[in-house]
Amino acid sequence: MVPSYENFGGKVHGGVVLSLMDKIAYACAASHSKCYCVTASVDKVDFLNPVEVGEILTLYSSVNYTGKSSMEIGIRVVSENFKTGAIRHTNTSYFTMVALNPETKTPESIPGLLLESDEEVRRFLEGRLRRKVRKLQRHDLDRARQEIDYEVDDDSLAGENCKVAK
Ligand SMILES: CC(C)(COP(=O)(O)OP(=O)(O)OC[C@H]1O[C@@H](n2cnc3c(N)ncnc32)[C@H](O)[C@@H]1OP(=O)(O)O)[C@@H](O)C(=O)NCCC(=O)NCCS
Repeated sequence: MVPSYENFGGKVHGGVVLSLMDKIAYACAASHSKCYCVTASVDKVDFLNPVEVGEILTLYSSVNYTGKSSMEIGIRVVSENFKTGAIRHTNTSYFTMVALNPETKTPESIPGLLLESDEEVRRFLEGRLRRKVRKLQRHDLDRARQEIDYEVDDDSLAGENCKVAK
């Protein structure tokens, strides 16, 4: 992690880590599908530990789940301070990448995974579960948004850290 990646707090900028994760997700998805791929979605990313300038960052990735044209790529990021030998888990996230036909730019069928170990079966089943949960969350959020009452005043927002100026 070079000094130009530093943020105002002296740590590596979170955006740099996200950008690296996106690149690795692309490499992993394109390598599996042998296709051009786009990022369709990124799951929640928790920054568990800061990354220091001068550390070595290693990103581990795997194709966890394959749909018809989409893949869930799991990414684990680990930082290493090579002076002290300290190794820290900094983030894990799941990227959904979609393979596109180079001419039509529409989703293209991809090869399915060959699950060769219990670990790969576990990843596949958990990836399938997360795909289902993502769809349910999108649906639930859309429905919940329709139920919001946007006519608010200070009383109805009591306990929240804001004031209504109008
Ligand atoms: C991702 C994209 C190709 C999907 O196109 P679409 O016409 O909605 O395609 P479909 O509805 O046929 O879905 C295709 C696959 O993508 C998946 N998908 C689509 N939107 C998704 C989303 N928001 N999150 C997760 N998966 C998604 C579908 O589940 C489907 O998977 P499957 O084929 O394995 O069953 C299209 O939305 C797109 O091009 N988005 C922009 C991507 C981009 O530019 N990324 C870089 C941002 S800087």
